[in-house]
Amino acid sequence: MADDQHSGGARVPGGFLCWVPTDLIAGALADLDGVRVEVQVPDSSSLPASADEVEFYVPPFFPAPPAVAAMAHMPKLRVVQTLTAGFDRVRPHVPVEAVLCNARGVHDASTAEWVVGATVAAMRQFPFFVREQLAGRWSYQFTGSLAGKTVLIVGYGSIGQAVERRLSGFEVGIRRVARSGRDGVSPVSELPRLLPESDVVILLAPVTAETIGMVDAAFLARMHDGALLVNAARGVLVVTDALVAELQAGRLAAAMDVTDPEPLPAGHPLWTLPNAFVTPHVGASTPYSELMARSFVRQQAERYLAGEPLVNVITGDY
Ligand SMILES: NC(=O)c1ccc[n+]([C@@H]2O[C@H](COP(=O)([O-])OP(=O)(O)OC[C@H]3O[C@@H](n4cnc5c(N)ncnc54)[C@H](OP(=O)(O)O)[C@@H]3O)[C@@H](O)[C@H]2O)c1
Repeated sequence: MADDQHSGGARVPGGFLCWVPTDLIAGALADLDGVRVEVQVPDSSSLPASADEVEFYVPPFFPAPPAVAAMAHMPKLRVVQTLTAGFDRVRPHVPVEAVLCNARGVHDASTAEWVVGATVAAMRQFPFFVREQLAGRWSYQFTGSLAGKTVLIVGYGSIGQAVERRLSGFEVGIRRVARSGRDGVSPVSELPRLLPESDVVILLAPVTAETIGMVDAAFLARMHDGALLVNAARGVLVVTDALVAELQAGRLAAAMDVTDPEPLPAGHPLWTLPNAFVTPHVGASTPYSELMARSFVRQQAERYLAGEPLVNVITGDY
């Protein structure tokens, strides 16, 4: 879990070289004394010579394989700072001498906004009405509502709590699940009891050995007829074939910002099922998240420069 108590590895005295993926992030660091910044997005195995000097690396938002493989060729690397809250693509490639920090908190507002927007859209049948509008049809019909429903947040962390704050005016009941139970938050072992009572199930747990495939046929079977699954976490949490079977049967509906596979290939059933609403992993892709990321990376670089503990250091499972 993200931990605020660890500092990075020992910093080499004097200035340090930081590779960042965009001009926007570079601009955030430009006036920091002691930091040399280069905008670099490794896109092949042939790296610029300055890779030898990189001490602080910010991989691109959606890192392609060469951008993570590059870390093996950065002998001075001490800090890997992702721009994302999820770090499943990066973690296996972080050298032992370096610490990995995620961007927990940076994308809470944007991702929670997507969750609430997608949930309302699915409950109020917005995708259907968009299709009808494009066809020029005035297709009046009653829809479901979010008001009066029970919402289960599976993964009550930084984003899950931001979702709850945003739902506070929607007249819903909230249930919360995390890895371990605490006041008002049920442990994951309570899921079998909570699923049948929930109208909307929102996935916001990280990718771990326990969460990969956790939403399987048995999980989905416990959701009641007409319930909505909302996935803003990662596609691999859901067994796609099991979800497709439920959607094809018309028993459940789903709103997904993330899928497995991702991107969805042409012809995949999730493209055309009327009860599936899919967006292409855009939850955190907003200018507001970019601003938050800019300020977060700067603060993290300042901490490293000052020899202070870094925040969001990943230890343990995630
Ligand atoms: N769609 C997007 O664009 C987008 C944007 C940002 C993030 N994300 C995804 O959202 C995830 C959550 O981000 P976050 O910043 O909210 O993470 P976080 O603050 O670390 O919270 C994760 C939560 O998940 C819980 N959890 C862990 N394992 C679980 C399990 N087996 N069953 C149920 N709950 C479990 C944790 O429980 P404990 O509190 O007990 O540890 C914690 O409450 C990220 O990992 C990322 O993959 C997606």
